Amino acid sequence: MILKILLAAFLSLTAIQYHSVSGALPPGWRTCGKSHPDYNKCLKEAAQLAVLSIANNGQKKYGVFPADPLHFEKILLDQSSGPVRVKVDFSETDLTGFKNLVIEGISWNGAEMAFNASVPKLNLYGDYRIQGRVLVLPIVGQGISNITVSGARIMTRWNLPEKGKGKEKHFHAENLGLKVHGSKVDFHFTNLFNGDKRLGDNMNKFLNENWEVIWEEIQPAIQDSFGAAIKEISNRIFSRISSQELLPS
Ligand SMILES: *[C@@H]1O[C@H](CO)[C@@H](O)[C@H](O)[C@H]1NC(C)=O
Ligand SMILES: *[C@@H]1O[C@H](CO)[C@@H](O)[C@H](O)[C@H]1NC(C)=O
Repeated sequence: MILKILLAAFLSLTAIQYHSVSGALPPGWRTCGKSHPDYNKCLKEAAQLAVLSIANNGQKKYGVFPADPLHFEKILLDQSSGPVRVKVDFSETDLTGFKNLVIEGISWNGAEMAFNASVPKLNLYGDYRIQGRVLVLPIVGQGISNITVSGARIMTRWNLPEKGKGKEKHFHAENLGLKVHGSKVDFHFTNLFNGDKRLGDNMNKFLNENWEVIWEEIQPAIQDSFGAAIKEISNRIFSRISSQELLPS
């Protein structure tokens, strides 16, 4: 299957300038030495504190805005094969829900980190423009898109090699892989088919009846944008706190 995704995640946070600060662990954050007697439990609690602090408050001195909502100027999906052949252009879209994220499992061994998290409701809300075919039906429209993933499970795996020398070593997030599954995904698009209410209602109903296959097809673009955001936020923080301070030996 050829899946062509054009992706452009221009996060609003990239507009912020770095302030010059000496690297210090943000207040309320915790670290776990590798020799901690219950290292995994400590890591899970530390990650939970860090995620909630970023979701709620961001980390302004490191150039990170509060991440809930996470704003995307553009998420582009261009898929020309498979059951869902659509061009979708999401713009000025907010992703909300991270304030309620719960870390369920985390592992950090050597240069590899993986974590699983659950979020009761993830919501993606913003402008859209769509054109193409969903299963057997043509679809066209431009308006507001509201996508809700209930019972979301987020699974990530990434590499965190250390860069630099001595006291100036920092972790650097690379090769981030991310998947988002839901127990249900609700779609609602306003103004489909030039505002034809009957066609639009029928299409929304059809999308919701077939949510599994549709989510499967559109999630790579959303995951890539979301993954790029996580990587950017992490690297802003990692570049300011030495690896020794973040993960004491
Ligand atoms: C994440 O969940 C998957 C599937 O349930 C499991 O195989 C994996 O070990 C989990 N990873 C972590 C880091 O908890
Ligand atoms: C988006 O959809 C969800 C569930 O379908 C609904 O609960 C929520 O109120 C909608 N949001 C807006 C702003 O309409």
